[in-house]
Amino acid sequence: MKKSHSQWSSRMGFMLAAAGSAVGLGNIWKFPYMAGEMGGSAFVLTYLICMFVIGLPILVAEWLIGRRGQKNPIHTMEDVAKAEGRSKNWRWVGIIGVLGSFLILSFYSVIGGWATDYIVIAAKGSFVGMNGNGTSQLFENFLGSVSHLFIWHTVFMFATAFIVALGVGAGLERSCKIMMPGLGLLLIGLVVYAALVSGPAFEQAFKFLFTPNWSAITGKAVLAALGHAFFSLSLGMGIMMAYGSYLGKDVNLISTARTVVILDVIVAILSGMAIFPLVFANGLQPGEGAGLIFVTLPIAFGNMAGGTILGVLFFIFLTFAALTSSISLLEPTVELLEEKTRLSRVSATVVSSVVIWALGIACLLSFNEWKQVTLFGKNIFDLLDYLTSKLMLPLTGLGTIVFAGWMMNQQLIREELHLGPALFALWKFLCRIVIPIAVVAIMIYGFMPQK
Ligand code: TRP
Repeated sequence: MKKSHSQWSSRMGFMLAAAGSAVGLGNIWKFPYMAGEMGGSAFVLTYLICMFVIGLPILVAEWLIGRRGQKNPIHTMEDVAKAEGRSKNWRWVGIIGVLGSFLILSFYSVIGGWATDYIVIAAKGSFVGMNGNGTSQLFENFLGSVSHLFIWHTVFMFATAFIVALGVGAGLERSCKIMMPGLGLLLIGLVVYAALVSGPAFEQAFKFLFTPNWSAITGKAVLAALGHAFFSLSLGMGIMMAYGSYLGKDVNLISTARTVVILDVIVAILSGMAIFPLVFANGLQPGEGAGLIFVTLPIAFGNMAGGTILGVLFFIFLTFAALTSSISLLEPTVELLEEKTRLSRVSATVVSSVVIWALGIACLLSFNEWKQVTLFGKNIFDLLDYLTSKLMLPLTGLGTIVFAGWMMNQQLIREELHLGPALFALWKFLCRIVIPIAVVAIMIYGFMPQK
């Protein structure tokens, strides 16, 4: 089989690609607005627990299975299941995964388009001197303009397809190496800025995000936190499995996974700490929704020295973080088409991108013309997000961990992961008992009707 992104020659290259996939809009755009909507700390703390207790072992499991299978997610699952003497129906984990990545990309590309458009908006100096009202108005007008959203969704999808068609080459890896640290530095700078200008609001933001308030925990918030842990680590869609299939035997999966999870968490927390002080200092609502970063950060850029340049840089970095994730979302579909049909890599990319792009148009219309078009009380954008994050990701994640914990030879896994007796016991306890029960319980609890 032809492998198009078999580039990771080193552990560093692999880690970069995995971190590039994980760190994306989920951390900077989605995490803060979800935390805002779900009442802050209750969501944040549950998310942190989910990341380390559930996300990390599943990340290791996906890489482990991928490294065994050496193929696309569906055939990897089928082959590894066969090798372990299990039903080949385990391939459904891979099938739902590929389908999910396809659905996620359709709305991901719309938001990637927002980020790209905001580069231009920032460059025009549109934020200068703006307060919260101004930026909210600006964003509202922006959402109302179908042609704008359409053009930039198209541009973003085109860029994604272009990179994937070429194969994930040195260009992207190299740009990640520059962009990721750049984004990190800029985020730290923004947190410092927020701390300096927002006075007591900084403390208020800190409390909002971290003061444990367990009474505020609802089934909905816990399910959202679990789903977001999956989303943020790119789990449950076979992506990490595919990335794992290009790994050398010598890479230590656990320490690499730990680094990726920590990086991912840091970017999310930094984003929250840059955004919420501005929310509170400017009298904005934390529950503002999907537009949160597009409404808050421009206030900072509009009122600081050099804000226009920093604003442009920020949205460039954001666009890049989104691109390193969106290419990972397109890869499974393309790889599958390439193998299963007679399409070449380029045509496979074109075909899948066009379908995803068309579905994306339905998503972007749900912010304006089709606002009223709902199913189960959700518009198309929310519905796709809900279906993938809250249902498909946890389900395939569950399938993966049950497979790793119960279907695979544990002794071999132990050797592969270099686990001492204590860690091995912990691994088995987590994979076999804690994670499956937690995921099932959270899903039941989350879907129960709530007051
Ligand atoms: N993890 C990315 C983010 O946080 C999004 C993403 C990329 C993703 N690949 C994925 C989410 C696979 C779920 C599954 O922005």
